[in-house]
Amino acid sequence: MSQSSSLHVAIVMDGNGRWAGRRGLPRVAGHRAGAEAVRRTVEAAPDSRVTALTLYAFSADNWKRPPGEVAALMRLFARYLRTETPRLAAHGVRLELIGRRDRLPLPLVAAIDAAERATARGARLHLRLAVDYSSRWAIAAGVILPDVDLLIRTGGEQRLSDFLLWECAYAELYFTPTMWPDFGAAQLAAAVAEFRARERRFGGLPEVAAG
Ligand code: FPP
Repeated sequence: MSQSSSLHVAIVMDGNGRWAGRRGLPRVAGHRAGAEAVRRTVEAAPDSRVTALTLYAFSADNWKRPPGEVAALMRLFARYLRTETPRLAAHGVRLELIGRRDRLPLPLVAAIDAAERATARGARLHLRLAVDYSSRWAIAAGVILPDVDLLIRTGGEQRLSDFLLWECAYAELYFTPTMWPDFGAAQLAAAVAEFRARERRFGGLPEVAAG
């Protein structure tokens, strides 16, 4: 199963604030470094034969953060979309936003719409950005819920935080102490290698016993 031709990896990108704090920098500097890690990871994904990548960028509960940090994150998302869209399109990446759009700033909604239109034909990697996202909300709204194969969480915490609850029914879970701004191609490849070494049984028996 783990050798199947499709591989959906989902990542809870955690640790930006602590990464910045350890360097005596403001939290927003951690988010900016986190955006670089997003760039590196998206670029590296096809090399690890990842076909779909879902990134948890902003949860419905993240609105509780200080208004200045929220505004900085919204600007960062819009800037990422504007600057990265040509590269995403050129590399065959199809971008899709999952989450509510009705509470987002209008310039961000415009950047999302433009990015989705410009990348609609991408067939190499399906990149799903979860912004103002709540898994409970998505389940209740009856949106399409594609199975996740591998769930990665950085930053040392070991919980799902309302991310892809239904889709992770049989996901392999991979937790790493690496802070998100330090994540990139090598860390993704290591997680995928561990995933491929695991035996997925989906409630059945090991292949030898079943034979
Ligand atoms: C969690 O770290 C991270 C977030 C809430 C924001 C995720 C945003 C990015 C990775 C920036 C760019 C994203 C895109 C899509 C361009 P935290 O701040 O909760 O870290 P902490 O647990 O160390 O405080």
